Amino acid sequence: MQPYSNNSRKKTVSEIVDTKKKGDKLVVLTAYDFSIASIIDKNDIDIILVGDSAGMVMLGYPNTRPVNMAEMLLFCRAVSNATNKAMISVDMPFGSYQKNIDEAISNAVKLIKAGADSVKVEGGEEIFDRIKAIVDVGIPVMGHIGYKPQTSSMWNFSKAAGKTKESALKLLHDAKVIEKAGAFSIVLEMITTEVAEIITKNISIPTIGIGSGPACDGQVLVTYDMLGINQDFKPKFVKKYLDLNHLIATSVQTYSRDVKSGAFPSNDNIIHMDTKQYEEFLNEYGLRASK
Ligand code: KIV
Repeated sequence: MQPYSNNSRKKTVSEIVDTKKKGDKLVVLTAYDFSIASIIDKNDIDIILVGDSAGMVMLGYPNTRPVNMAEMLLFCRAVSNATNKAMISVDMPFGSYQKNIDEAISNAVKLIKAGADSVKVEGGEEIFDRIKAIVDVGIPVMGHIGYKPQTSSMWNFSKAAGKTKESALKLLHDAKVIEKAGAFSIVLEMITTEVAEIITKNISIPTIGIGSGPACDGQVLVTYDMLGINQDFKPKFVKKYLDLNHLIATSVQTYSRDVKSGAFPSNDNIIHMDTKQYEEFLNEYGLRASK
């Protein structure tokens, strides 16, 4: 039997790790649906992260804690259907890997079967055994240290990690433990620039920063943040590349005005019946043409 091929050429774990060795930067964006993932995948992105930020961005939860496996599987499937080039990394939701190794493996396998190429988990030394066990069954793992949204008691963007010597030593230790467990990369969220640089120079796997400065091996942003969808969310580390909120709002208002005024639909947007067929139809029913 011939292996199935759809001409896809996905980024592999080795290519992601080699990017660091070559001194090139990794570019990572989040996606949760087919349409956005299709655009991202055509535009030079190494990893598409199906982050559990989906819970807030797509489902309106107050934070990432309520997100469950069923929801992540749905987002994962949608992104997978759109992606041929980028590696897809999917967040394991809160509660899906904390309990024990068997449950962590079983949930990681479910995400892989839904189209993930790798999974992401938040935590350091305390989840060494889970990371190692998932890697040992053949599933690539991305770590995540610094600000860990799943276990923060509340959102507080002034709480960067790595501001003290103790915090810096703990972060460096955790990064090394995650590397030892077999992870292929680590997200550094909201870590002071100095500590992010030291971590990046002292581990062999790539660091992917969000709010952690330019020394990281790559950068990740939540796509909806960089597109400017949510006007109320303005952390310092997000660069807005577009004011999509304004563009959508203006388009919606114009559409509403057009419908009310009758400007939409215009002749360009309607389908005409063949004239002869129209006349025959009117005759058949004894109607007269109104025009
Ligand atoms: O859930 C997410 O989108 C993330 C990124 C912010 C790294 O974890």
